[in-house]
Amino acid sequence: MGVDLGVELAGLNLRTPLILASGILGLSGRLLVEISRIEDVGAVTTKSIGLKPRDGYPNPTIAVLPYGFINSMGLPNPGVDFFLKELDEAGSFGSPLIASFYGYSIEEIAETARIIASHPSVSALELNVSCPHVSGISEIGVKPELVAEAVSKVKKEVGKPLFVKLSPNTHLIVDVARAAAEAGADGLTAVNTVKAIAIDAELCKPILSGVYGGLSGPALKPIALRCVYEIYEEVEIPIIGCGGVSSYLDVVEFILAGASAVALGSVIALKGIMVFRELARGLSEYLERKGVRSVEEIVGLSHR
Ligand code: DHB
Repeated sequence: MGVDLGVELAGLNLRTPLILASGILGLSGRLLVEISRIEDVGAVTTKSIGLKPRDGYPNPTIAVLPYGFINSMGLPNPGVDFFLKELDEAGSFGSPLIASFYGYSIEEIAETARIIASHPSVSALELNVSCPHVSGISEIGVKPELVAEAVSKVKKEVGKPLFVKLSPNTHLIVDVARAAAEAGADGLTAVNTVKAIAIDAELCKPILSGVYGGLSGPALKPIALRCVYEIYEEVEIPIIGCGGVSSYLDVVEFILAGASAVALGSVIALKGIMVFRELARGLSEYLERKGVRSVEEIVGLSHR
């Protein structure tokens, strides 16, 4: 491979622009360490962590469709104290660890951020205000003024880079993005899943125990790509593109739309963790074929 895939993202140095998305394989400290050490992994993101443990919803929590998944886990997590203890014993990370977190109020968001960011293994934070179906969370991420308040509170308490994961379940996504940037966010992740439902025609009822879930996978990609494209036009801070990436061409499209890095989720469930290698190879060959020396040269190129 002739092209250096390294990118700088809000002060983080990534070996490749490929990031493990939140919600995939991200609840065990040890597993995150293992994945962070894979050569083509640029950074890893935890499943969203809250101040207190949460059980999540009973099964069924996932519906598999021909074009993606609808999942409704209910934000299961062991709580911040337990998770940080696990990180103590997990070993050292081979690439930056982004800690995803949530809270039910501005105060709880700030407190959780302060505790998580105090751990030396955590390189950056990703605020999840966009889980599409857990009440108390999804409401925050569609209100620009609440997101701005949360971001400025967190930035007052925490010195590490802060990303905000945006919801596609609003026509205000660009306003939320701008509010987050103006309040001091270091980057944006676009996007979280689309609120969706699956119904069993035989049983005549919703399939998922939580009724609603988040749609991910190929069906989400054109929506996520449009969101990245729109946000790039209006906001200066870096964007992590996320939503339905399955091939290296999808990675390229997100970067051309304005993403500085790209997060992988559903594709890992389908192809396994070594998909990072396949996509890094494809991206590298694409850049070589185009005579481009770095990923940064093509960020947002489709706008010019
Ligand atoms: C869940 C959380 C998310 O942020 C999401 O996009 C989908 C599902 C969950 O834990 O249920």
